[in-house]
Amino acid sequence: MAKKDTYRERTVYISGGSSGIGLACAKLFASLGADVFIFARRVEALQEAAALIEACRTHPGQRVAWTSLDVTDHDQVLSSLSRAIAEFGPPHVVIASAGLAYPDYFDRIPFAMFDQTVRTNLYGMWNVLRALIPSMKASGGHIVNVSSIAGFLGVFGYTAYSASKFAVIGLSEALRSEMKPHGIHVSVLCPPDTDTPGFARENLTKPLETKALGESAGLMSPDDVARAMLRGMERGRFLILPGMEGRFILAAKRLLPGVVNALMDRIVARARRAAGGR
Ligand SMILES: NC(=O)c1ccc[n+]([C@@H]2O[C@H](COP(=O)([O-])OP(=O)(O)OC[C@H]3O[C@@H](n4cnc5c(N)ncnc54)[C@H](OP(=O)(O)O)[C@@H]3O)[C@@H](O)[C@H]2O)c1
Repeated sequence: MAKKDTYRERTVYISGGSSGIGLACAKLFASLGADVFIFARRVEALQEAAALIEACRTHPGQRVAWTSLDVTDHDQVLSSLSRAIAEFGPPHVVIASAGLAYPDYFDRIPFAMFDQTVRTNLYGMWNVLRALIPSMKASGGHIVNVSSIAGFLGVFGYTAYSASKFAVIGLSEALRSEMKPHGIHVSVLCPPDTDTPGFARENLTKPLETKALGESAGLMSPDDVARAMLRGMERGRFLILPGMEGRFILAAKRLLPGVVNALMDRIVARARRAAGGR
């Protein structure tokens, strides 16, 4: 695992760095000596997160900064991040973590929530990468795009979310190949259910079948996800799967896709019966 000053004089940009997995990554990089720049929408959350990140610094010269922006706003992302690059320097590491899930039955997901999901998880990532990558080409670096297990396994209740997170893996695969000649590594992080404010919010609309599928697996802490991400980066992994669950599901899906579907269908049917449905 990386030592205390591994990232000294390295600059890490994190979208969604004010909460959950993004914040855990920000604290981890600060504890390894990095300068950390986070961005998200809510100013108060950014201020609170910056104080937590500062508390993890290993030396006083380390810079922690933030800006409020909406990743879905292409022009705002380009102008705010080009200002950040001019003041803070180009990133050595980018973690694209800003995202949301709005699970529900397909015909109950309002179009506005589908739209927001895809615009945040996919277009938002595209906007951030478009703003930052040109400045990284001179010295190389590492990009980690945050997808999900639901980015390679379509899960009941996640039609909007899975659509966006499958797209993140496609974007990342194509980008990996294209960035290689520039010395920019691309990874895609696929966490399992993780105990974050975002996860608590998605539980509010989760169908009982989706809950049952989730309960058959565990819940990781965001700090464990961040540490697994760092190990994956150090090992040069493209697909980073924190915990055993994701590795097991990926292997099973590749080797025995019918069995995985049958298993999920059985959990769904049992949950419906238990709730008095069919
Ligand atoms: N938690 C899980 O179980 C889990 C599992 C697999 C994958 N993931 C993925 O991991 C990433 C982080 O999730 P999390 O659970 O840590 O969520 P979280 O606690 O809700 O954090 C999400 C972060 O993204 C920011 N954000 C959301 N929409 C934004 C927008 N339009 N513009 C700028 N920033 C925006 C939020 O800040 P503002 O709201 O202030 O903008 C916040 O900083 C997401 O991509 C999620 O899909 C999560």
